[in-house]
Amino acid sequence: MRTIATCRDDFPVLDQTASSGRPLVYLDSAATSHKPLPVVEAERRFYLHDNANVHRAVHTLAARATDAYEQARRAVARFIGAPQPESVVFVRSTTEAINVAARSLGQMLLREGDEVLLTVMEHHSNLVPWQLVARASGARLRYARLLEDGTLDLDSVREILAGGKVRIVAVTHQSNVLGTVNPVAELAAMAHEAGAVILVDGAQSVPHMPVDVQALGCDLLAFSGHKMLGPTGIGVLWGRIELLERMEPVFGGGEMIREVELDHATWNDVPYKFEAGTPPIAQAVGLGAAVEYLESLGMANVHAHEATLARYAVRRLQELRNIRIYGPLDDRRGGLVAFNVDGVHPHDVATILDHEGVAVRAGHHCAQPLMRWLDVPATVRASFYVYNTEADIDALVEALLAVERVFGKGRR
Ligand SMILES: Cc1ncc(COP(=O)(O)O)c(C=O)c1O
Repeated sequence: MRTIATCRDDFPVLDQTASSGRPLVYLDSAATSHKPLPVVEAERRFYLHDNANVHRAVHTLAARATDAYEQARRAVARFIGAPQPESVVFVRSTTEAINVAARSLGQMLLREGDEVLLTVMEHHSNLVPWQLVARASGARLRYARLLEDGTLDLDSVREILAGGKVRIVAVTHQSNVLGTVNPVAELAAMAHEAGAVILVDGAQSVPHMPVDVQALGCDLLAFSGHKMLGPTGIGVLWGRIELLERMEPVFGGGEMIREVELDHATWNDVPYKFEAGTPPIAQAVGLGAAVEYLESLGMANVHAHEATLARYAVRRLQELRNIRIYGPLDDRRGGLVAFNVDGVHPHDVATILDHEGVAVRAGHHCAQPLMRWLDVPATVRASFYVYNTEADIDALVEALLAVERVFGKGRR
């Protein structure tokens, strides 16, 4: 039986040394996760045995490719508690999913003076698409404030909604910097009460915790395959089917149409009207395998494992002098920790950690407004997944002692 304790063997990429010759410790899964053997094997099998375009021919391979693609859609629907597989639209990434949703909803719902409610902790992917849509529609972007500890200020959300102008709420489920997990079910209830539609950026939640769209009560959910043990180039836009049916497509081309005349066209059913052109077929198959892999581990176990690692990381980092951790220090944090070492640029920290074999990310993490709110140019971020252990965090702490040695900081 596959368990979190034994799954590391499925990730041969981890079994290597970093460029410095030290054993590799990978703490950058929030950027992208590694792929277990069953996912790589599923894609390989697809290319070696079933490869054909989908939905377009009657021959045997095309039928098998279409079955494999639609089976992946059913697996994803099951994984997020979606009532109908057709409510799962395959796109390339979270970024594409949010752009499609923003463009389509923008056209449908936003008029001059309307408002879109975002938060200060959004990734640029859930921010810039709304800026583009606001510019085109004359709508105004409003930002809910954060509390001192990096959690969302729900009073600020209430205040903005009370103005009666918000048509769309777009919020991250889990911040990719603070680790904050937002109370999405509560936000969905608040948005609906105010007559708004709510989109959830699930890029950092769907890979790491049980996510059930019906329990959350959201209208749209966006996430990426590559952050959840799946391939790059595949993402998901899930939507309530009645809403997807009312939304106009954003991309035109093959497969998304029913009839094409010289001067107009009619649209195919959901989800196909949003899947113009040849979709990422093998990648969808890989995502289906990733979903099955995560289901075999159990998402509640994945979440508990990461919560344990996050708690352990916070505790160990607090033992070091001159480390400032961002985001909540309690269990409202998911499996990542962003921090800075006093007086040392995050890129220098990451470079020394890399020399010690520890892969972390340093930068603004595509969240520049949040960096301004934190009043830092950048942070270091260590992020965890199913294949990480407490020993990886011990290696991080040991490597941070090397940073202290290089920059002359002492231990507490
Ligand atoms: C919270 C959040 N939203 C959106 C994205 C964008 O994901 P992708 O680059 O896969 O489109 C990321 C990626 O880091 C993220 O962390």
